[in-house]
Amino acid sequence: MQKPVLMLFALTLLCGSSAMVWAVQDPKVKKEIAEYQAYFKKRFPTVGLSDYSDGVNALPQYAERRANWELLMEFPPYEADMDKARALWNKPMKSGKALASCFSRPATKYPYYSNEAKEIRTIEMDLNDCLKKNGEEPIKNLKHGKVALLVAAFREQYNGQTWNVDVDSPGAVAAYEAGKKFYWTKRGQLNFSCANCHVHSAGNKLRGDVLSAGLGHTTGFPVYRTKWALKGKPWGTVHRRYGGCNKQVRAKPFKPQSEQYRALEFYEAALSTGVPLKVPSQRQ
Ligand code: HEC
Repeated sequence: MQKPVLMLFALTLLCGSSAMVWAVQDPKVKKEIAEYQAYFKKRFPTVGLSDYSDGVNALPQYAERRANWELLMEFPPYEADMDKARALWNKPMKSGKALASCFSRPATKYPYYSNEAKEIRTIEMDLNDCLKKNGEEPIKNLKHGKVALLVAAFREQYNGQTWNVDVDSPGAVAAYEAGKKFYWTKRGQLNFSCANCHVHSAGNKLRGDVLSAGLGHTTGFPVYRTKWALKGKPWGTVHRRYGGCNKQVRAKPFKPQSEQYRALEFYEAALSTGVPLKVPSQRQ
């Protein structure tokens, strides 16, 4: 590694750990996150914490295909859509207000546990509440299309900032625990847990795919996927991806924005504390 790269790496590690100190206050949760990240540090010693924003592209097992991905990134296939996304985000609503007026919390603090609503709130939920409050129709399809574009337009404004969700109240800890249970429970006819693929088998091949590390998961969402583009719906939210992963093991997917997927998203976000956002992403 060259010196500036090394320094940046050291800096990222420092920022990562200091971010962890103040957002995640529960000592048990903090310890679990540190253990999870240490597992990947040991498994992939050359991959720095911030590299995990690149998903599977970050792993040495994917090195041959990374060159293709880098070439593609010179003219990313999502750029034209992102222009549309930014225009949609900035378009005044019927009330005359902008969507941004509803978002006081940075994207690095989503999802969050709301003590008033007593539930995990996602960007998608706050987006739909905002639309309703300002005389617009809420978005019905929460997997692809407009919702993904708007979430991408919001999240990209925080690119490079480290993820840092709050696990600081009994309700937040309970949601984290629910997400954890989902993550480690085997399901479907194939009887696989999320962790079986994305922790124990990260970097291994599965039917021609290389499995990404769970660390960094969802930092790059919404994603523009080649596979989805072939079906005419290239964009997908995190919950679209979760549904796909459930179906892969022949388990019934939950609805996007279901309590289960929101808890799972919160848990995955907490595990990725200290990884910078990098939105949108292209994936195979
Ligand atoms: C049978 C193996 C398998 C299981 C089980 C599985 N996945 Fe996946 N998952 C994949 C494959 C293959 C991909 C695409 C390649 C990659 O990025 O790992 C993927 C991709 C993902 C991605 C996208 C990563 C990115 O940056 O693009 C997320 C997020 C994800 N899975 C979460 C989960 C969660 C949460 C669960 C549990 C509900 C789960 N997966 C269960 C195989 C699996």
